[in-house]
Amino acid sequence: MWEKATGVSKMLLKLICFVLCTLIAPNLTGLLGEDAPLPAPQNISILSTNMRHFLMWSPVTVQGETVRYSVEFQGEYEREYANESWIPICECSLITATVCNITEDISATVAYNLRVRAVNGAQRSEWGTLKGFFIRNTTSLTPPLMKVMADGYHLLVELENMGPAFQFCILYWEKGQESRMQQKMVKDVSSTIHLATMEAAAEYCVKAQTYVETINRSSSFSQTQCVRAPGNRSMWLITVLMSSAGFAVAALTLPFLAWKTRKIFQYSCCPIAVLPDTLKVPEPPTQLILCGREEAEQCDLMVHVMPPEEVLRLWIQETL
Ligand SMILES: *[C@@H]1O[C@H](CO)[C@@H](O)[C@H](O)[C@H]1NC(C)=O
Ligand SMILES: *[C@@H]1O[C@H](CO)[C@@H](O)[C@H](O)[C@H]1NC(C)=O
Ligand SMILES: *[C@@H]1O[C@H](CO)[C@@H](O)[C@H](O)[C@H]1NC(C)=O
Ligand SMILES: *[C@@H]1O[C@H](CO)[C@@H](O)[C@H](O)[C@H]1NC(C)=O
Ligand SMILES: *[C@@H]1O[C@H](CO)[C@@H](O)[C@H](O)[C@H]1NC(C)=O
Repeated sequence: MWEKATGVSKMLLKLICFVLCTLIAPNLTGLLGEDAPLPAPQNISILSTNMRHFLMWSPVTVQGETVRYSVEFQGEYEREYANESWIPICECSLITATVCNITEDISATVAYNLRVRAVNGAQRSEWGTLKGFFIRNTTSLTPPLMKVMADGYHLLVELENMGPAFQFCILYWEKGQESRMQQKMVKDVSSTIHLATMEAAAEYCVKAQTYVETINRSSSFSQTQCVRAPGNRSMWLITVLMSSAGFAVAALTLPFLAWKTRKIFQYSCCPIAVLPDTLKVPEPPTQLILCGREEAEQCDLMVHVMPPEEVLRLWIQETL
């Protein structure tokens, strides 16, 4: 309903514009003065990217004056069924810019003629006409801007919204398995697109191209982007558990080992304290205390007394 209403009002606007531009404007300029030579605009060209079309031309310069321009077009219908009439582009009537947005007027995939003339006060130039026709299927299409993401095990993609005429062909695959490529066509890119659920720790790649149905043409593909899925969840849990268990064991045993080592050194230094009773020579109790802080030579002597096997045996005995 709304679309229809705007369509009707647009047509009305066009009609009013047509009347103003073709009937009143020439009469006004005719009343104001005679047509004097003013060069026609040159280098008329079309710049068309992603179904947005612009007519451009080189400026006509008149010393100390602001030259204005008016643009008209002729579609297939006007050319063949309307006595080769031209339709003024209202938005590009008496403009100072040397570019005209003709996107709205190029509404079908047919051959269009375009022309522009310079106006300086009462002076009007001849029409400068675009060489050849413009067909909108020659528009240059660019691949969409793309952002590939991994949200947990979900492979997601965000695409640039290029307008209602655009669809997107998305290709995605697990890296190394290009032969098993998946394809998805999307029209609505206003929100994030879910592509697949990924295998743990696998890498996935995505590329996309734009497609415009009305002209049956596609852009080239965007650069491939890859993301890696997180590792296996249960494996991860085991790793975490094992490492924390390992840490706990280390935390408990390290002080014990340190204490044990200190004990061994103590025994190897002062073997007298643990000699079997039969070998024990009665000695004053000061011996032990002395040994702890006696010179190294005294201890060295004692070390030779006790063979290493004995130290080990003692250590095992102590531990058990
Ligand atoms: C048309 O373009 C050519 C090259 O781009 C330039 O040399 C020439 O001056 C232009 N013509 C006008 C009238 O500006
Ligand atoms: C078509 O144009 C010619 C001359 O340009 C004119 O004589 C004729 O009346 C026009 N016919 C219509 C139907 O507008
Ligand atoms: C040209 O016109 C189209 C259609 O009205 C519009 O979407 C686009 O934004 C315009 N571009 C510029 C640069 O004005
Ligand atoms: C555009 O359309 C015309 C005719 O409709 C066709 O001859 C031409 O090959 C098309 N060009 C492209 C690039 O599709
Ligand atoms: C679109 O173009 C392809 C080739 O690029 C062609 O095979 C197909 O028939 C065309 N579809 C339509 C609807 O014109």
